[in-house]
Amino acid sequence: MKILAIESSCDETAAAVVEGRKILSSVINTQVEEHKKYGGVVPEIASRRHSENISAVVEKAITDAGITYGDIDAIAVTHAPGLIGALLVGVNYAKGLSLSLGVPLIPVHHLRSHIAANYLEHTDLKPPFLCLTVSGGNTVITYVRDYTDFEIIGQTNDDAAGECLDKAARIMGLAYPGGVNLDKTATVADEKKYPLPTPHTQNKYDFSFSGLKTAVVNLVHNASQKGEEIDVGALCATVRKKVCDILIDHTISAAKELQIEKIVLAGGVSANSELRSRLKAACDENGFSLYYPPLSLCGDNAAMVGAQGIYEYQSGNIADASLNATATLPINYRK
Ligand code: KG4
Repeated sequence: MKILAIESSCDETAAAVVEGRKILSSVINTQVEEHKKYGGVVPEIASRRHSENISAVVEKAITDAGITYGDIDAIAVTHAPGLIGALLVGVNYAKGLSLSLGVPLIPVHHLRSHIAANYLEHTDLKPPFLCLTVSGGNTVITYVRDYTDFEIIGQTNDDAAGECLDKAARIMGLAYPGGVNLDKTATVADEKKYPLPTPHTQNKYDFSFSGLKTAVVNLVHNASQKGEEIDVGALCATVRKKVCDILIDHTISAAKELQIEKIVLAGGVSANSELRSRLKAACDENGFSLYYPPLSLCGDNAAMVGAQGIYEYQSGNIADASLNATATLPINYRK
């Protein structure tokens, strides 16, 4: 079954053709350079660029796959969560195409597709497993009972880990996208020089990153008021270490308590070098197996939407022309 997948939830316009776990084509048009000027994504600009670019991106995905529109069996599209204006562009384009081609329309949850990026790389990977999904807008630990059956074990009560890394990077003067540049700039963590708070939540597997984000902002402001220079490399490393400590601690504790030995990492922040290496070491120490996506599939792309699309289709999650985009939707939603 050949699925044409479309993704436009944030600042990447992407289209791909996938067949099962095989990528036939994957096209990503990123707007990063444009949003860099503003230090973050400007929603209206994102929507307008999606509108301008989506036709060409889809056309290229079809051409690169060496197929024609007539070969497409279904269309999968990210419908939630994300920037509403950005999502609407992809959803409406997919609706029009599915109507004109007379093929099913499959709505795909953005975080489910981040998890599915792993299926493209690890072709033998099957649920059940425990998944830590960390992106710019979400941080959640889920028990993935089956491909479309998710139980939330812990989630952020406020900011996502990616938001904390991005804003910490911004206050230190690093360019957008902050998380990536913070990862590159980090040298050696010095927790004595830069003590950061450890967040507490009622549910021990939940997260809270807003206090940590504010602590970094205050630290940088106080230093600037006193005319002190910040050791940016050390502060980047300290923030990165703190975020990784929390993510890894919660994931390993949950896996131990729930007795799940298969762990999957997903989302944009899964590209973080320290998170990958330390989570791998922690899994090895506990006899757990760890799966993470290749760097090329960590960020937003449409191949992962197609990879999840097939399972949504098999579970009967098929939309009609009334499909709408939704800015927030829990990963465990039921149709
Ligand atoms: O999943 P994603 O591409 O978009 C969302 O769906 O949110 O994630 C983007 C997030 C941003 O916060 C970005 O800074 C972060 O992923 N990110 C990283 C790295 N690469 C991307 N954070 C830390 N280290 C990285 N290497």
